[in-house]
Amino acid sequence: MITKKVLIFGASGQIGRYCIRRLVRNNYKVIAVTRNTHQKGYILKTQAPIGYLDIEQASIFDEEKINQLLSNADVCVNLVGILYEKGKNNTFNKIHTEFPDRISKICKKKNVDLIHVSALALDRAKNSKYAQSKINGEIKIRENFDRATIIKPSIVFSVDDKLSTRFMSVLSLLPIFPLYYNGETKFTPIHAVDVAELIFNVISKEIVSKDIEAIGPEILSFKEIIQVLSKSIKKKRLLVPIPLFLAKISAAFFQLFPNPLLTLDQLRLLKYDSIQSENGITNFEIGCPSKLYFEDSVLKYSFNYTEGGQFSIKKNEKK
Ligand SMILES: NC(=O)c1ccc[n+]([C@@H]2O[C@H](COP(=O)([O-])OP(=O)(O)OC[C@H]3O[C@@H](n4cnc5c(N)ncnc54)[C@H](OP(=O)(O)O)[C@@H]3O)[C@@H](O)[C@H]2O)c1
Repeated sequence: MITKKVLIFGASGQIGRYCIRRLVRNNYKVIAVTRNTHQKGYILKTQAPIGYLDIEQASIFDEEKINQLLSNADVCVNLVGILYEKGKNNTFNKIHTEFPDRISKICKKKNVDLIHVSALALDRAKNSKYAQSKINGEIKIRENFDRATIIKPSIVFSVDDKLSTRFMSVLSLLPIFPLYYNGETKFTPIHAVDVAELIFNVISKEIVSKDIEAIGPEILSFKEIIQVLSKSIKKKRLLVPIPLFLAKISAAFFQLFPNPLLTLDQLRLLKYDSIQSENGITNFEIGCPSKLYFEDSVLKYSFNYTEGGQFSIKKNEKK
């Protein structure tokens, strides 16, 4: 029996897919919004049993369509986000500021609870366009709709992420790996399962008007993260701190590519710790502690980046 209808923007992404699976398990119906049902239909359709998932194609700039979608929902989750800008429409301002502004006004008008996913520790990184646009989005939401809950994750990892998987691809190929800012920047990696659990808890316990920092069970430096990843794929790599000017040159080069590994804006962001703020309320305090540790979890999918795939692991090594 369906108990609530949850409209998710950005449902086809990493967090979105874990979220769909978590919500339908408890009899919530998900309406997944994507820009392109032809491209994302397959990946979405496989996330839920028949009757628990509708897929809607819509542009986040189409106010009439958003109004129509929100007329048929109890809760709205906004997971739309980008890491780099592309073309006229995919700008940080349009995606991270204007869309949250638009959607929070409509949610208020329609009396639909809003859960907006932003990011952790943005205040420290104001010289990043990504961070500033996300901060502006949060400000707009707070101005428009005080019942909205904002979730701020540190880096989110899983087999479907664009972080640990891309780093393991690079580590499997290159003998040396650059450490930006000496590899000292700290993170609290949280698994997508734990983020989805948090979103489920916010919806089911009807937690409103909160800012929740979504953190993992441990703090790791950038260097420790790279060490865990290279150990997981069984490669000894030389980790080399590189001076900032060289890092900038490499980022300027990478960002010329269509799907860049690093941009100048991300490099600026990488300087700042992504950990719990001094007075921040976290998922732990609201009774939803993260359970999955980085190293244990990565080991479960790192074989994708080892020679021989899963058959190269322990069982065969003993021979
Ligand atoms: N992953 C992390 O480490 C992390 C950390 C902190 C915060 N966050 C935030 O958490 C949210 C979800 O993250 P995620 O990792 O699940 O992201 P993701 O995998 O990149 O997915 C984001 C989704 O946003 C949609 N999207 C992208 N550009 C769009 C556009 N121009 N118009 C409409 N939709 C667009 C895409 O859906 P369609 O292609 O189907 O339209 C995509 O599936 C984002 O706001 C992100 O900034 C993520």
